[in-house]
Amino acid sequence: MKLAVIEGDGIGKEVIPAAVEVLDALGLDVEKVPVELGYGKWEKTGQAITDDDLEVLKECDCILFGAVTTPPDPNYKSVLLTIRKELDMYANIRPIRPLPTVRGILDRSNFNFVIVRENTEGLYSGIEEIGQDISWTKRVITRKGSERIARYACKLAKERKNRIVIVHKSNVMKSDKLFLDVCRETAALHGVDYSDELVDTMAYKLIRSPEKYDVIVTTNLFGDILSDMSAALVGSLGLLPSANIGTNHAFFEPVHGSAPDIAGKGIANPIAAILSLKMMLEWHGNMSEAALVEEAVDAALTEGIITPDLGGAYTTKEMTCAVVDHIKKEMRK
Ligand code: NAD
Ligand code: IPM
Ligand code: MN
Repeated sequence: MKLAVIEGDGIGKEVIPAAVEVLDALGLDVEKVPVELGYGKWEKTGQAITDDDLEVLKECDCILFGAVTTPPDPNYKSVLLTIRKELDMYANIRPIRPLPTVRGILDRSNFNFVIVRENTEGLYSGIEEIGQDISWTKRVITRKGSERIARYACKLAKERKNRIVIVHKSNVMKSDKLFLDVCRETAALHGVDYSDELVDTMAYKLIRSPEKYDVIVTTNLFGDILSDMSAALVGSLGLLPSANIGTNHAFFEPVHGSAPDIAGKGIANPIAAILSLKMMLEWHGNMSEAALVEEAVDAALTEGIITPDLGGAYTTKEMTCAVVDHIKKEMRK
């Protein structure tokens, strides 16, 4: 496997080396291609990502990505959005599951759902105009975009509880009526049970009773917001992995950002990045290695190796070491 490795900015430079250490411990035949991208590169060279970088990414089998910093400068184009769009990775898959010994705001662990987020259109269309007195962003919903994300959600639902919840705001934004209708049609076509919720109500219900949900399919910005909110159910943003899947490319990254408030301190939780690696291994068909990575994360937490985001005092390196040690011990058996 040829794997592009992008650390990016901030804690990306801490959590990706951690995930790579875990990958190395598995002893798989992986050619790692480091690619430097992001705000740091922009400060040095005036470009955050080049056409050559994109070519390298397209030639790799898949990508492991940390996080990038995006300044709110209207002339700065988000590197992450550029990659997702250029490689047409339309499905952003974000599993929300509790981990051993760790509790989030509800102090319970009886939920397990997945956010299937449309990743290429909606309010992330990039079609906008910034003016002195008026600025606007065009929200684009297409039948093609809605259909392919609905199909992805239905495929996933078939492997789970055969039901999806379609999350939208069609009472206000009529563009969401198309998304809702296409998702309903697709679910009916695939024999998947479906219901729908307005996004504000969904936010409320997810916090009240997350155990009622299984596969949630939604548009780009709603999926983004519901993801970080769901991190509070699990316990920390430092725990949530994700996959960005397209027809020809795949890209794995933590849900969190570059966390400038803790960057450089060596205390970032590497679990989101390590579990993103696990999602990558599953995608690639390395099922036993993926299971071993998950088991090693569970074991480290169970041993009480907890980083400061979860109230502990262990460092990124100590957590990584615990995961790697467990993998090595299992592999010697
Ligand atoms: P953030 O996700 O970086 O951080 C939010 C909060 O969660 C912070 O308090 C941070 O310390 C904490 N946190 C995040 N990851 C953690 C981890 N692994 N361990 C412990 N604590 C963790 O969001 P932000 O601060 O709003 O954004 C910072 C920058 O990151 C912005 O420039 C934003 O655009 C960018 N961003 C990038 C990505 C990405 O590259 N995938 C995602 C989100 C935000
Ligand atoms: C995410 C991030 C990105 C998004 C930003 C950094 C462009 O928040 O992956 O959740 O909004 O998709
Ligand atoms: Mn986000």
